[in-house]
This record gives sequence, C-alpha cells and structure tokens, in this order.
Amino acid sequence: ARIGVVTIDGPGGAGKGTIARELAGRLGWHLLDSGAIYRLLALASLRADIGLGEVDRLVAVAEALDIRFPTDGPAAGEVILDGVVVSDAIRDEASGERASRLAAVPVVRQALLERQRAFRRPPGLVADGRDMGTVVFPDAPVKIFLTASAEERARRRHKQLMGQGVAANLADLLQELRARDERDTQRSVAPLRPAEDAVTIDTTDLSVEAVVSAVMERVEARL
Ligand code: C5P
Repeated sequence: ARIGVVTIDGPGGAGKGTIARELAGRLGWHLLDSGAIYRLLALASLRADIGLGEVDRLVAVAEALDIRFPTDGPAAGEVILDGVVVSDAIRDEASGERASRLAAVPVVRQALLERQRAFRRPPGLVADGRDMGTVVFPDAPVKIFLTASAEERARRRHKQLMGQGVAANLADLLQELRARDERDTQRSVAPLRPAEDAVTIDTTDLSVEAVVSAVMERVEARL
C-alpha cells in the first residue's frame, strides 16, 4: 500500500505549520514544512549573492541544499542548513518575500520536487505548503486547505514573530501577506489553490484544537 500523506495547503498565516506539527505529533508521522525549503533556498542564495534572474545558479544551489529537520535530539524542531541552526533566520518577512519570488521560478520548483517527495516515508507524512495536494502529492488520501481572513493571518504572524523575539509591525505584515497571497495565487506554475478533492476549513474563528479535531476526523475516516 502507498504510504499515507495528509496535505495541508493554504496562504501564509492560516495556521498550516501549527496544525501540521500537532497532527504529525498525534499520528507519529513525519513532517514536511515545504515553505521552510523555499525559505532556506532564499537564505542560501542571498548568502551566495545569487540574483533572482540567475536561474542556473539558483537550481545548482537548490539541488545542493544540505537541509535537515530533526524530529528528535537536542535540535528537534529546528531547521538546519549546512549543519547550522537557521530556524529564526528564515522566519522574517524578508525571507518569506524572497522565498515567494524564488517559488515563482518553474525550474526552481522542479529542482525541489523530488526532494520534497523523498519525505514520504513510513509510517506516513504530514506535508504543509501551497501545492502539496495539487502538485507534490496529488494522490494524498487526505487533503486540507486552510484559510483565514488576511487580518487574522497578519495577527497570527505578528504573534508568532514576537514570540521568537523578531520585531514586526502589524500593518506592514498585513501588506506583505497580501502581496505574497497575490504572487502565490497568480503565478503560472503551481499557483496556490485548493485541490479539487481538498476540504477547505476557514480557521478565522476556530481554535487550534478545533481545527486539529476536524482534520483528525477526516484522517480516521480515510485511513
Ligand atoms: O509557508 P511559508 O510562508 O513558509 O512559505 C514561504 C513562501 O514559499 C510562500 O509565500 C510561497 O511563495 C512559497 N512556497 C511555495 N510552495 C510551497 C511552500 C511555500 O511556493 N509548497
């Protein structure tokens, strides 16, 4: 039998990361934060001083990225690039913004496709991003699309950043989220949209627990 996958797609700040982590923990499954991969590429290409138009160099960096998402040990939950913890460095809006520009380049997405699929290992995978259900894991038995109002998503991002000690301005965040939504939904390759067989959940007025329960019900019904 194919290894189970739950895909969780949606715009930035809809709660995908929180829900995916919680779900993976309850199921005892692996976790793929695909946005972190685009953010890592953003960071690595900035450090290597590669411009957005230098496609061949971008692809070379994408293929060589040394990425780890440890799930146990002292670095559990951290994002590691070339052996160094970069979890905070990739979380600011500058990285998100550059990530979304890189993510619109078709060959860059192609270079990252198989790397993302390699996360599908027993006993199962919870994958969050923009195109998990539409492109990367089109045969996933459970597909969720999470949304929330832009204002609520900006508030959540703000809270998350403050919690990490990263300075952020709510109005700026809202504007940046809207710009990113626009780019992610309008791009020609793998645009942000629900898969035809996805269940859409509007999380604006829902607690984390309510969303996780709703998703767990789907998972239990399907697996
Ligand atoms: O989810 P997160 O905000 O970390 O993603 C950063 C950016 O990476 C998104 O704005 C999007 O452009 C891109 N991305 C993507 N496909 C994914 C995950 C993220 O294009 N599967």
